[in-house]
Amino acid sequence: MTIVYRKYKPPQDLHLHLHLHLATQSEQSATGGQVPAPRESAETDLTAIRQLISSDLSEPYGIYVYRYFIYQWPHLCFLAFEQNKEVKSELVGAVVCKLATHRDVKLRGYIAMLAVATSHRGKGIATNLVTMAIEAMISGGADEIALETEVDNAAAMRLYENMGFIRSKRMNRYYMNANDAYRLILPINEPSTVRHHVLSEQATEAQNMDLYL
Ligand SMILES: CC(C)(COP(=O)(O)OP(=O)(O)OC[C@H]1O[C@@H](n2cnc3c(N)ncnc32)[C@H](O)[C@@H]1OP(=O)(O)O)[C@@H](O)C(=O)NCCC(=O)NCCS
Repeated sequence: MTIVYRKYKPPQDLHLHLHLHLATQSEQSATGGQVPAPRESAETDLTAIRQLISSDLSEPYGIYVYRYFIYQWPHLCFLAFEQNKEVKSELVGAVVCKLATHRDVKLRGYIAMLAVATSHRGKGIATNLVTMAIEAMISGGADEIALETEVDNAAAMRLYENMGFIRSKRMNRYYMNANDAYRLILPINEPSTVRHHVLSEQATEAQNMDLYL
């Protein structure tokens, strides 16, 4: 089995489409701020990503959630394909991320979605995809990388903690299935600690306990 990794390939008219979309206030309000489909109907990668991820994650994300992340940060979406000589290569893993300013003090990379096909798990595919995403976000200037995962997702917790992520917060009934989430953070640079310092000066002992859980 040969696994080939590559970045998401955006439809050819995506650049023009996003430029027009973001520049036009009326279009933004008409779509409620959602990113619509590009004029070219080449959403092949996106459809495959959605199929792979939606079969695994408990949250039922709509198409606009996928477009929001993948069309705005196409360079932070990495894919794994099983190369097969007889048939077309098949998508077996995907990671979807964003990179944006957080609370005006730091640049936060965010891993929004990650999934590997059941048949291909335990072979290091998620580790490779997350490593590529982290490297790309660090190259883009990320001060820290964050994500949420269900507290009982043993595979994800082990994967991320092996990579140096630390538990920063437990969020009660965070998911639609009423499960709790951990926020995990991978600190990269000094600004990653800013919020913690500010809060620890002001917060009560109880708040601090929650922050460091
Ligand atoms: C979590 C997931 C992406 C891991 O993918 P994967 O390709 O199997 O992961 P890897 O092979 O890179 O394994 C990475 C580490 O995860 C841990 N791991 C993987 N599967 C595990 C399992 N079933 N139980 C416990 N730990 C597990 C292992 O520690 C492994 O490292 P190690 O073998 O060196 O100890 C995959 O199980 C998945 O798609 N799950 C459903 C979707 C999901 O939960 N996504 C994450 C949401 S935040």
